[in-house]
Amino acid sequence: MTQSLTIRRPDDWHLHLRDGAMLQAVLPETARHFARAIIMPNLVPPVVTMADAAAYRDRIMAALPEGARFTPLMTLYLTEETDPDDLAAAHAAGLVTAVKLYPAGATTNSASGVSNFENVLPVLERMAEIGCPLCVHGEVTDREIDIFDREAVFIERVLDPIRARVPGLRVIMEHITTRDGADYVMENAQDLAATITIQHLMFDRNDMLVGGMRPHYYCLPILKRREHREALLAAAISGDSRFFLGTDSAPHPTHAKEATCCAAGCFTAPIALSCLASTFEEAGALDKLEGFTSLHGPAFYGLPANEDTITLTKGAPLEYPATIPAGEHTVTVFDPGQPLHWHVTP
Ligand code: NCD
Ligand code: ZN
Ligand code: ZN
Repeated sequence: MTQSLTIRRPDDWHLHLRDGAMLQAVLPETARHFARAIIMPNLVPPVVTMADAAAYRDRIMAALPEGARFTPLMTLYLTEETDPDDLAAAHAAGLVTAVKLYPAGATTNSASGVSNFENVLPVLERMAEIGCPLCVHGEVTDREIDIFDREAVFIERVLDPIRARVPGLRVIMEHITTRDGADYVMENAQDLAATITIQHLMFDRNDMLVGGMRPHYYCLPILKRREHREALLAAAISGDSRFFLGTDSAPHPTHAKEATCCAAGCFTAPIALSCLASTFEEAGALDKLEGFTSLHGPAFYGLPANEDTITLTKGAPLEYPATIPAGEHTVTVFDPGQPLHWHVTP
């Protein structure tokens, strides 16, 4: 039985760091183990321009603990007013790694997102030209579409048509939650990849809803039925380089989660790698962990893998706080539903 595993240092290809006191509180949790992360731009107001991204990157760097080595890979929030020249300049300068598409109203802080996809085609065409990838929150927002079907319908009605209209556009389907999402990636050899979160590998909607409603498992896209979790796990452990880790660690103050109308998002950063090692171990696929956490993402983004390593060692149950302080609030750490035995060093 494997008791210790050394892998290249991981990256997180989908992360929410927020701003201010929350940024200060959560950044060390990611910087401790991850070398780089794709930083989501859904602040209030969102990170829309090159100037916004530069200022946000400075705030992240200023919040890093002494001695931490961590590189935020910035994204711009795509709106119907995004200026293709500003975006191209930000990409050419190496400031911005990708652009994020939120359908308007699909998720936390997505009000400034896209309603009419026709209006962003010129920007997408420019992105294809300059090789800037598009990260997508893949859910339709029509009231008539059931929340559990929104990803599959998005693929058919929005994503597939966009990809047909803009050949050469590299797309990352963020946080896929369904077999439909995994299949769509596998059927399309070119220019398409997907990130998968920890909560979608570990849990299904029963875990969230049976025996009481657990707000800390509520995220978007919402947890689906078990067969979808199984399809995601199969994709994650397949060794297929189009699937890689994007934790979507999305902190909200505890009071906003434990509320009449609970905010969407799971805060997994503090225990991300221990959760993943357990999940891969249970699936008999520890040998596929490094590809998923540390190799496939950089390859798709055209970046080198990290040179240094981390070591995962199996031992006594991991001790970690149930909540961490964030300014005058707390943020509740994701509950893995089981003791975690994998410890990460350094
Ligand atoms: C994210 C957040 O809180 O910003 N929430 C979530 O449930 N995943 C937004 C997102 O990634 O859709
Ligand atoms: Zn999202
Ligand atoms: Zn997210």
